[in-house]
Amino acid sequence: MTVKTKDHSYVFQRKISDKGLLCVGSKGDGMYIILEDPKTRERKVLMDGISGAAVCSLGHNDPEIIDQLSDFARESAYTFGGHYGNYSAENLSKFLCDKSKGLFSSCLWTGSGSEANENAMKIMRQYHLERGDPNRYKFISRKQSYHGFTIGSLSLGDCARKPPFKPILLSDECTPKIAQCYPYRGIKSGMTEEDYTNELLANAEKVFIENDPSTIAGVVVETVGGSTMGTPTPPKGYLDGLREITHKYGALFMCDEVMCGLGRCGYPFTFLHPEFGLSSGGPDLITVGKTIGSGIVTLAGVMISPKVVDAFEEGSNLIVGAQTYHCHALNCRVGLAVQQKIYRDNLIENVRILGDKMKADLKEQLKDCKVAGDVRGAGNFLTVEAVKDRESKEPFDHKFNIGSVMEQKCFDKGLIVMGASGTIGNEQVNDNEVIGYGDHCTIGPAFTFTEGQANFMVKTIVETFKEIEREYL
Ligand SMILES: Cc1ncc(COP(=O)(O)O)c(C=O)c1O
Repeated sequence: MTVKTKDHSYVFQRKISDKGLLCVGSKGDGMYIILEDPKTRERKVLMDGISGAAVCSLGHNDPEIIDQLSDFARESAYTFGGHYGNYSAENLSKFLCDKSKGLFSSCLWTGSGSEANENAMKIMRQYHLERGDPNRYKFISRKQSYHGFTIGSLSLGDCARKPPFKPILLSDECTPKIAQCYPYRGIKSGMTEEDYTNELLANAEKVFIENDPSTIAGVVVETVGGSTMGTPTPPKGYLDGLREITHKYGALFMCDEVMCGLGRCGYPFTFLHPEFGLSSGGPDLITVGKTIGSGIVTLAGVMISPKVVDAFEEGSNLIVGAQTYHCHALNCRVGLAVQQKIYRDNLIENVRILGDKMKADLKEQLKDCKVAGDVRGAGNFLTVEAVKDRESKEPFDHKFNIGSVMEQKCFDKGLIVMGASGTIGNEQVNDNEVIGYGDHCTIGPAFTFTEGQANFMVKTIVETFKEIEREYL
C-alpha cells in the first residue's frame, strides 16, 4: 500500500500520486489561466493557447455569461428528456439548425463529444432499421483518428489511446478503417493534390467492397483532424468524393466536428470551408462539442439532416433510448447564450482573419527552421509538426518525446499549447505501453483572441522550434 501524503491527489486523473498543478481561476480577458502548485502555493499566470483542449470559444469565465448563470439556473428545472422536453434545448437546436441553412433539422444534446459520437452511431443504426435494412451494423472510420473515449467512440478511433483497451472494444470487423488523411506525408514527390485525393478515395472504395457494402451503416471522419495528427486539412475534393462513395453504397456520411467545428476553423461549420469543404450540401449528420458550451457547461451534440429525420418520422417516429442528461436545460441555455454571443460579436470572423494571419506568420518565421516540417490547420486551429530532417521528413526518435518537450518549452515562456506525439502512428510495445512516432504542437485559442495575443503565440512557438533546432539536431 502506498502511504498517502497531504499532497496525494484524490482525483483519478493524470498521475494518481500527484495533484500536479491546479487551476485556481482565470485572469484578464479570459485568455489567461492561473495555475497553482499545491505544495508551495506558488502561482503562475499563462496564456491559454489551446483553450483547455480547444474548448473555450469565449474566454474563460466570460463575464456576460457568468452574470446570467443564476437566472439561467433558476429558469431551468430538470426534466428527463424521455418524458418532457424544455425550451432551452428547442431554442439551441433551432438556432444552430437555422445557421446550417436547412442542412440540419434536428439535434440531440449530450454531455460530451464521446457520448455525441456514441449516440450518432445508434442514430445511424436505427436509421437503417427504420428503412427496413437491418443488415447494416458496421462503421467505417479513418486510421489515425480520435472520436472519444467511450467504448463505441474509441472503437471508431485509431490512436495511441486505443491499443490497451482493444479486447473490450467493438471488433475490427465492425469498425473497418480507411487510410488516414495526411497531405504533408501522403502527397509524395511528383504527386498533385488531386492525385492524393484519388488515392484516398480509391482506398475508401476498396475498404467498402472488402467489407460487404450492404453491411456498412455509416462513414465517420473528422472534417479536420484533431489531437492525433495535429489539424491536417483534407485535400480538395476528398470530402465530396467520400460522401459520394458512401451514398453509392447506401450508407450515411457523418463528420465529427467536435474539436474542429462551430467556428474553430473560421466558418460556422467546418465542412463549409471553401478550400477543402463539401462543394454543396452537407453530411447526413455531424457531431459538435467543446466550444459549444465554452467550457462553462459540459455540452456536445448530434445535428441531424432532414434525410435522416424524415426516415425516423416516416418510420416508427420514436427514438430508442435516452440518457439522464440528454438535452439538459441549463447546459443548453448556456450553450445558446454562448452561440448568440459568438454570432453577435462576429467572433468566427475574428478566428478566420487572425487565424489566417497567424498561420502565414508561422510559415514565414519558421521557413528557415530545420525542425519545422509543416505548418497546417484552419482558422485558429493550427499545428506545427516537428521533424528531424525537413528533406526526408524523418521524425525525431520517440525517446526524446519532442511533443512534451515543445509543450514544456512553451509553458516556460507563459503559453499553454498541446504538444503531442504519435502524429505518424504508434506501436504497442507491451500490454500497457504504446509509443508514438512523430510530434506536433497545436494551438486553438478562444475565439476572442486579439492580434497582440496571436503575435505572442507565434513568437513563443517560433522560439520553441528554434530551441529544439539548437538542442536536438
Ligand atoms: C474529434 C473529436 N471527437 C470526439 C472527441 C471526444 O470528446 P469528449 O472528450 O468531449 O468526449 C474529441 C475530443 O478531443 C475529439 O477531438
